[in-house]
Amino acid sequence: MGGSTTTVVVMLIVVLHYYMLLVDGASWDEVSSEADGPAPAEGPDDELWLPRAGPPPRVVNVDDYGAADAGVDAAEAFLAAWSEACNSSAGRSVFLVPEGKAYLLMPVSFRGPCRAASVAAMIKGTLEAPSDRSVWLERGLQEWITFEGVDRLRVLGGGTLDGNGMQWWINSCKLNRSARCVTGPTALYLRRCTRLVVEELQVRDSMQMHVAIAYSRDVAVSRLSITAPAWSPNTDGIHVSNSREVSISRCTIATGDDCVSIVTGSTFVRVTSIFCGPGHGISIGSLGANNSWAHVSDVLVEKATLLGTTNGVRIKTWQGGYGYAERISFRDISMRNVTNPIIIDQNYCDSARTTTPSSCHDQGSAVAVRNISYRNIHGTSASRVAISLVCSAALRCDGIRMQDVYLVGEGRYATCSYRNATVVQSGYTFPFCSAEM
Ligand SMILES: *[C@@H]1O[C@H](CO)[C@@H](O)[C@H](O)[C@H]1NC(C)=O
Ligand SMILES: *[C@@H]1O[C@H](CO)[C@@H](O)[C@H](O)[C@H]1NC(C)=O
Ligand SMILES: *[C@@H]1O[C@H](CO)[C@@H](O)[C@H](O)[C@H]1NC(C)=O
Ligand SMILES: *[C@@H]1O[C@H](CO)[C@@H](O)[C@H](O)[C@H]1NC(C)=O
Ligand SMILES: *[C@@H]1O[C@H](CO)[C@@H](O)[C@H](O)[C@H]1NC(C)=O
Ligand SMILES: *[C@@H]1O[C@H](CO)[C@@H](O)[C@H](O)[C@H]1NC(C)=O
Repeated sequence: MGGSTTTVVVMLIVVLHYYMLLVDGASWDEVSSEADGPAPAEGPDDELWLPRAGPPPRVVNVDDYGAADAGVDAAEAFLAAWSEACNSSAGRSVFLVPEGKAYLLMPVSFRGPCRAASVAAMIKGTLEAPSDRSVWLERGLQEWITFEGVDRLRVLGGGTLDGNGMQWWINSCKLNRSARCVTGPTALYLRRCTRLVVEELQVRDSMQMHVAIAYSRDVAVSRLSITAPAWSPNTDGIHVSNSREVSISRCTIATGDDCVSIVTGSTFVRVTSIFCGPGHGISIGSLGANNSWAHVSDVLVEKATLLGTTNGVRIKTWQGGYGYAERISFRDISMRNVTNPIIIDQNYCDSARTTTPSSCHDQGSAVAVRNISYRNIHGTSASRVAISLVCSAALRCDGIRMQDVYLVGEGRYATCSYRNATVVQSGYTFPFCSAEM
């Protein structure tokens, strides 16, 4: 493809993207009005997406830096190309991984800040991770592809990131009790990025988490397809921590752990139009492990479909923690054959991760869970208990509202079980949480 053709294609994609954003129209007002939060800041800034007049972007093709001929490891070529794209003086630049090719890529970190006003990492080809665990274990690394400290970065292109995680799964201490517990790498890690867009990528078979967003702000993730076998341990789909104004939309996630997990330091997170299953559902937490302080607030999860997951929408906090999970709203969710469709567990304990059994005993403090709303949630429960709200004796769950929640068992009645929680139910709601046990 000649330089000018590439430029035209890239500009077309930019124009298309701008219209997609208009259609998508992520509105933060929704989150705050539903969850009683303060008015959130605006979504991705429009000006960024306008195909502005001026010089065309500089397109940097990794093949021009020797990636195509690298054989065993394209990382060096990728980094050289990144350096050129990131520090381009052209204003906008495109870091291009061409279509129809696969590149074996050792762990790489693409860092900013960049001189270019915006960088599009256009991944059209396939990136393959080495299957050998020692690549990470020997260097103490926990990430495969990292983008860090970049403003106005877009990662997109329809390509594939393949984590080749099999060796990590079969040697995991969750599947092999005699194996040592080690943290596996995250396939795509986005850290300290602002005005970030991640869209239209396939991420599969990660060693552990697929996509992580940390210490970032103003993030739009959409149209990702994330897959790993249902039995693969700890393979969360999208993990959000310490980030604000994050929108995750139109993703299909089928893995062995949470489809979306939102942990401490996250606020104004909107998750919309997600298909989830198999997996462990959509999770807030876990929060407050090891007596830590944690906070998550102003989260809206809407228009999700969950199929055969082991939890539906879950809030999990450890005993002994501090802080809060508040103003969290789940609505317009459809569940089919979901175990534990609605669950709050304020006494969460993952025995494989605790070093001392005492961490699972009753403790005097807890992460507060308050102002949680469930509205228009329908479907079938694979477990007898469809709604389970287990709060701590130390700190009740407060302000739990349910409206038009209708869950039935697979061929039997479903029940609600709750403890130390204040629940207000209204509308056409079943099962009814009638008496505190
Ligand atoms: C961009 O240029 C700056 C200044 O020369 C340098 O410190 C930085 O490492 C460069 N960034 C990349 C990604 O090459
Ligand atoms: C489980 O892990 C141990 C220790 O790493 C190892 O010796 C053993 O072969 C593993 N078992 C299986 C079935 O992989
Ligand atoms: C708690 O802390 C211990 C010791 O620092 C650590 O080994 C363990 O992984 C931590 N647990 C969790 C769930 O983070
Ligand atoms: C429902 O889920 C259970 C357990 O997850 C599974 O065993 C069963 O086959 C599923 N049933 C249907 C109809 O999919
Ligand atoms: C929590 O529930 C237990 C058992 O139902 C009850 O004994 C206790 O008083 C409750 N604690 C609070 C703070 O409501
Ligand atoms: C939020 O929770 C507090 C108690 O923690 C309650 O007084 C208040 O009414 C709740 N707000 C809504 C809208 O539920």
